[in-house]
Amino acid sequence: MIQENLLRRIYYKLPPQLRLLARRLVYLPKDIFRKRNQLVPPEGLIYTGRGDFLKVGRYWLDRFVNDGGLQPDHSVLDIGSGIGRMALPLTQYLSSGKYEGFDAVFQGVKWCRDNIQKKYPNFNFKYIDLNNDLYKSSGIDATRYRFDYPDHSFDFIFAISVFTHMIDTEVDNYIKEASRVIKQGGKLFATFFIVDEDYSPANQRFSFPYDRGHYLLMDVRVRSANVAYRLSYIRRLAEHYGFSVELTEKGYWQNEAQQENNDFQDVIILKKH
Ligand SMILES: C[S@@+](CC[C@H](N)C(=O)[O-])C[C@H]1O[C@@H](n2cnc3c(N)ncnc32)[C@H](O)[C@@H]1O
Repeated sequence: MIQENLLRRIYYKLPPQLRLLARRLVYLPKDIFRKRNQLVPPEGLIYTGRGDFLKVGRYWLDRFVNDGGLQPDHSVLDIGSGIGRMALPLTQYLSSGKYEGFDAVFQGVKWCRDNIQKKYPNFNFKYIDLNNDLYKSSGIDATRYRFDYPDHSFDFIFAISVFTHMIDTEVDNYIKEASRVIKQGGKLFATFFIVDEDYSPANQRFSFPYDRGHYLLMDVRVRSANVAYRLSYIRRLAEHYGFSVELTEKGYWQNEAQQENNDFQDVIILKKH
């Protein structure tokens, strides 16, 4: 546990570009010498989270269908599309639907364009130079970014492990924008770190010691490293922007036993009315 926290602290001390480069270098020997599934990016490029790339994507696709009501003909928006972990399984599901994804990290979007968009014309990825101090040292302020899509154009929107790396004013803007581009009755499926009103960070492997009221930070120098929210705040935002809360489900990040159907992060599903 001490080692994991220490490694995390060292990682956050690196400048953002070096964090991506460090990963590339650590995995380089493996990426050169080990045969890999051509659908999956080299490990050194997967900056978006741990676990089996294909299995994690399939897990979330099942959740989108079973809990979020995703249909094969839906028009889908992936906020923070990363390096295609969610998009890849969707290529086998969205038969007559269409997919749009955008992200702030160029290397992820480039991989998706070269390896997914070229083969699947109903998939489109945009690189938007948004600032996020975990990944970048410059870029557009996400609190003012207007999503580059028309009003009411999506049936289903998701953000997996994205609002967990965004501060409160950015999340506020993204829920507002999601509300603008989603159709009436559409679902926004997102993951968060949600803490109780009386949350105390003591003795936890994965904790948020910097309490800012309705949100909490894991690290003060890299504010987007990991961000937690109080449920009352997310509920307020959702209701303010015309959503009702359909489901809140705890993940196991707070050391709860892992259930068959839950993940590390907490899940919230919102429905636009
Ligand atoms: C942990 S990764 C998850 C990526 C992807 N959703 C997945 O689950 O594979 C977080 C992603 O959010 C992106 N991101 C961070 N801030 C963003 C913003 N303001 N707008 C869009 N994407 C953002 C990062 O570039 C990164 O790709």
